[in-house]
Amino acid sequence: MSIQKAILKEYERSRTNAEIKLKELTKQIYTQFPEIKTLDSEISKIGIELAKATLSKSGDIEALITEINEKNMDLQIKKAEILHANGYPKDFLTIKYNCSKCNDTGFIGKDRCSCYKQKLINYAYKEANLSMVTKNENFDTFDFSYYTDTAHPNLNMSGKEMAKLAYNAALDFTSNFDLKFNNLLFTGSTGVGKTFLCNAIAKELLDKGKTVLYLTAFELFKKIEDYRFNKGDNDFPEDPLNHILSVDLLIIDDLGSEFLTSLTTAELFNCVNARLLNKKHTVISTNLPLSELKNHYSDRTLSRIIGNYSILEVYDQDIRFKKISKA
Ligand SMILES: Nc1ncnc2c1ncn2[C@@H]1O[C@H](COP(=O)(O)OP(=O)(O)O)[C@@H](O)[C@H]1O
Ligand SMILES: [Mg+2]
Ligand SMILES: [Zn+2]
Repeated sequence: MSIQKAILKEYERSRTNAEIKLKELTKQIYTQFPEIKTLDSEISKIGIELAKATLSKSGDIEALITEINEKNMDLQIKKAEILHANGYPKDFLTIKYNCSKCNDTGFIGKDRCSCYKQKLINYAYKEANLSMVTKNENFDTFDFSYYTDTAHPNLNMSGKEMAKLAYNAALDFTSNFDLKFNNLLFTGSTGVGKTFLCNAIAKELLDKGKTVLYLTAFELFKKIEDYRFNKGDNDFPEDPLNHILSVDLLIIDDLGSEFLTSLTTAELFNCVNARLLNKKHTVISTNLPLSELKNHYSDRTLSRIIGNYSILEVYDQDIRFKKISKA
């Protein structure tokens, strides 16, 4: 099902739910206050009178309509007063939609309501395998104060300087996404902001309308494996392997944390290589230093990465501990 269709279905469901809810409340109120039921039936009679008046050609129609409307108003007020006197809000028996701007239709006239746009974003996040929580990790919230002046043991750079390089490369990657074919590899120990940067990149590109798929290495290999072994007897919405290879941006987070088998080694090469051939951008993060990546995966995978990815090391103490002591 297309996203548009799914969203319209969602709206249909919310409207039905609102109607059911109102029916239940009405039933409950009618039992408690039969006089409201009487008022309601008078109100609906007036509705018919009004329709007739609008159609009739004789007499002073305008005056008749005004009179009917006034009668209607009186009845509505009476009804509201009874509700109010008994501790209910005056509009207790009016239908309540999730969005009062578009009454859960998704549209205001011909324009999409803001709730429709929000739904589109939610779907894009879901498709990308990202939770809304990660929305808080973006380029605006990236905090450089967590990084220190501690010098890297081998490079003539501090943690802060390296974080700036990684941040700028990530930002540049997103702003030139259509202009420049590039791939990124973030390497560094645990808790230095590698996943944070992946999320910031994902968010930026989702907002630009790109298709993004975020997978931990564990999820990636599991998806591929499930696909290989269930091939044919599973009705996936889309061929998952094709999606992995063709999505505008694939993020493989935490490479090296998965179970290593000869299959994963081959699949990683396949994935990295196919995406390079298709000129599809890939971002990888790993806790492993390059030297260890080489031991884990094949030489040819590593040479593809070194030849086609910007390698960005993030170096500092674990930010998670700093966050706890700051809170
Ligand atoms: N630059 C940053 N500014 C603010 N919070 C950060 C930053 N980098 C990391 N964090 C936070 O620190 C924690 C660990 O970061 P994470 O990106 O998961 O590290 P890694 O993926 O390198 O192990 C997370 O809670 C994350 O939100
Ligand atoms: Mg991480
Ligand atoms: Zn709306």
